[in-house]
Amino acid sequence: MNRSVDLPSQALPDDDASARPTGHASLAEVIASRLSRRGLLRGALGAGTGVVLGSFTMSASGGGDDGVASAAPAAPRQAPREADAGPLLRFGAVGKSLEDRVQVPAGYTATVLYATGDALRRETPTFRNDGSDTDWEHRAGDHHDGMEFFGLDRSGKRRDPSGTERGLLALNHEAISQQYLHAAGATPNDVAARPAAEVDKEIAAHGVSVVEVRRHGTAWRYERESAFNRRITPDTRIEIAGPLRGHPLMATRYDPSGRRTRGTINNCGTGLTPWGTLLTGEENWAGYFYRAAGDNARRDAKANVSLARYGRNAATSAAASRHAWEKSDAASDRTRRFDISVTGASATEDYRNELNGQGWLTEIDPYDPGAPIKKRSALGRFAHESAAFSRLVPGRPLAVYMGDDSQNEYCYKWVSTAPWRERDRGCVERIACGDKYLDHGRLYVARFAADGSGEWIELALAHPAIAGYAGYAFADQADVVVNARLAADAVGATRMDRPEWCGVHPETGEVYYTLTNNASRTPDKVDAANPRSYRDAVFDGAPRADTPANRRNWNGHIVRLRERDGRADATAFEWDVYLFGAEAAAAPAVNLSGLTDDQDFSSPDGLWFSRRTGICWIQTDDGAYTDRTHCMMLAGLPGRVGDGGRKVLDNGGSPVTTCVGGRPSPSTLKRFLVGPSDCEITGVTETPDGRTLFVNIQHPGETISKATIGDAGAYVSHWPGNVGYGPGGALARPRSATIAITKEDGGLIGS
Ligand code: FEO
Ligand code: CA
Ligand code: CA
Repeated sequence: MNRSVDLPSQALPDDDASARPTGHASLAEVIASRLSRRGLLRGALGAGTGVVLGSFTMSASGGGDDGVASAAPAAPRQAPREADAGPLLRFGAVGKSLEDRVQVPAGYTATVLYATGDALRRETPTFRNDGSDTDWEHRAGDHHDGMEFFGLDRSGKRRDPSGTERGLLALNHEAISQQYLHAAGATPNDVAARPAAEVDKEIAAHGVSVVEVRRHGTAWRYERESAFNRRITPDTRIEIAGPLRGHPLMATRYDPSGRRTRGTINNCGTGLTPWGTLLTGEENWAGYFYRAAGDNARRDAKANVSLARYGRNAATSAAASRHAWEKSDAASDRTRRFDISVTGASATEDYRNELNGQGWLTEIDPYDPGAPIKKRSALGRFAHESAAFSRLVPGRPLAVYMGDDSQNEYCYKWVSTAPWRERDRGCVERIACGDKYLDHGRLYVARFAADGSGEWIELALAHPAIAGYAGYAFADQADVVVNARLAADAVGATRMDRPEWCGVHPETGEVYYTLTNNASRTPDKVDAANPRSYRDAVFDGAPRADTPANRRNWNGHIVRLRERDGRADATAFEWDVYLFGAEAAAAPAVNLSGLTDDQDFSSPDGLWFSRRTGICWIQTDDGAYTDRTHCMMLAGLPGRVGDGGRKVLDNGGSPVTTCVGGRPSPSTLKRFLVGPSDCEITGVTETPDGRTLFVNIQHPGETISKATIGDAGAYVSHWPGNVGYGPGGALARPRSATIAITKEDGGLIGS
């Protein structure tokens, strides 16, 4: 979540050079025509083969394509209807709003599908939503986040990537609105011991859900008694795969062999593998672990450097944990593990290495509860968001793009050693397919140059800057990937404005990264790819002070890159900034993309391209514009890297030149949804026919204290109880939830 800070005001510097507008009115038509052709090709091929394997389409894109047939993921079988050929983004833009409800355009319906606490089996009591509910291992967790749809056939028994009537949603439960989980709020962290009943509930409300959903006429419901339903929590046994498997850095009391760990936590963005599994990104995991003051003295220098780089410094004072689970009053091995201090004689007698078990992309097979769950360590340890696959080209390696969401962290990519084989879409041993593409390959980090070029630098022990790094003596490749941030420091990667999700444009193959905002991007630290440091002029009607400390990247931006020759394994790219977040009324030097009232947004976070329509869905997690509007989702039809121009930004005397993408028009960028009070919008996926969009509403009304939990009238939000979902009505405790969005005429979402 983001929080705003109130600061005073003064005039903004203005740079009157304007970004060059481009002919975007025709761009929508071009894209609509391309997508229509792709849909027709898919439909024809899918109908002809009738099998659950992808189909091929010739890429319609120009520069960067090598003319080799590229495969599109998840191919719908049915031919698109007449309406599909029409232009997208014809809906009326949703206005900014402070109402406590979900708003979508006229002609669309949004219904609540799966909310915090919903029971995942018959034996678990229906949710009461008064803080008394138990059995959270069989309920929807809290704080719904990244999400993917996995189609089932009509029998509901087998995988069918084209299935649009029923399927599995696999979704993350990133964190908790802690006070609402307990009848009278949570015991504070500063007590001697926290009640086990609270701790166990809080742990189980984190992790991942797999839940079956099904269309009933025009409505969607989750299937409470589906055999597929399950929870993966911070307690679930998980295998370590890749270079860290069996490594001494993974040895713990739980598994002295270093081959497995317990659980996945603070799961944020997701990825959908082409072979039909979920990748779940572990984001702000470090804060759940306690480290005692003075622990530095019991460690070697390398361990202390690593722990400090990942946020657990204990040189002089303790590193406190977020919920003090290590202080459960019924302490057991599963709660003691949250204390990572050195307490035993060796690493196999305590949890000094426990932090190395989190911070990965973890692969789950939603269709097979018996399949092992694996942490893909070769892809690096950091604050993972989403995982976006490159366009797939048979015979060529595939890439997975990833971001590290902390201030001034990096953009990464993974390139597989194995060349892509189209038959692997139908892989039956899906986790074995993951072994093939995700355990062997190369990890890279991005450096953005001022001239609009960039390079991917391999994080390999053999790199001279890594082998000779003065800040940390890497021992082997396992040491490099578990300390990917340190390796990226060593090679001089570009420090970005908090990389959140990334996505790959299905037609152009260009890669989009949201950079949500950066409170530490002061004017002296701007660079070409992170070029803005400015004052957000007004918040809550009051001017913010124009002091150097109040200059930062308040509203975020979206950078995009085009790989050289369109190759996933390229080591060079070109980049520009697709959109700069801004308030429509902000000065031109801030509102560089010229966003109108129908388009303006702040703090882009989720970003995902529809495989059916090609729409770029952009979701926000904001704290800078929330005096004017709740968080939102927009639909974009982007052009290409280089469709704008270069621009000099003054930044109050710290000038920098950047690459600004072409300005959006009303037909290429439009607000589609605004959420209820005090939420973020995050997580989006669709049925393969593009006619149902699933979206997650996270933490409505999370601003609540133990002191006010007993006063329902004081809750900031009552959604979704206030729209009739679950108990509580107009005074309900708020809940995170998945919603299903359909169009009343049955058309494509976003048309
Ligand atoms: Fe969980 Fe970076 O958002
Ligand atoms: Ca503002
Ligand atoms: Ca996020």
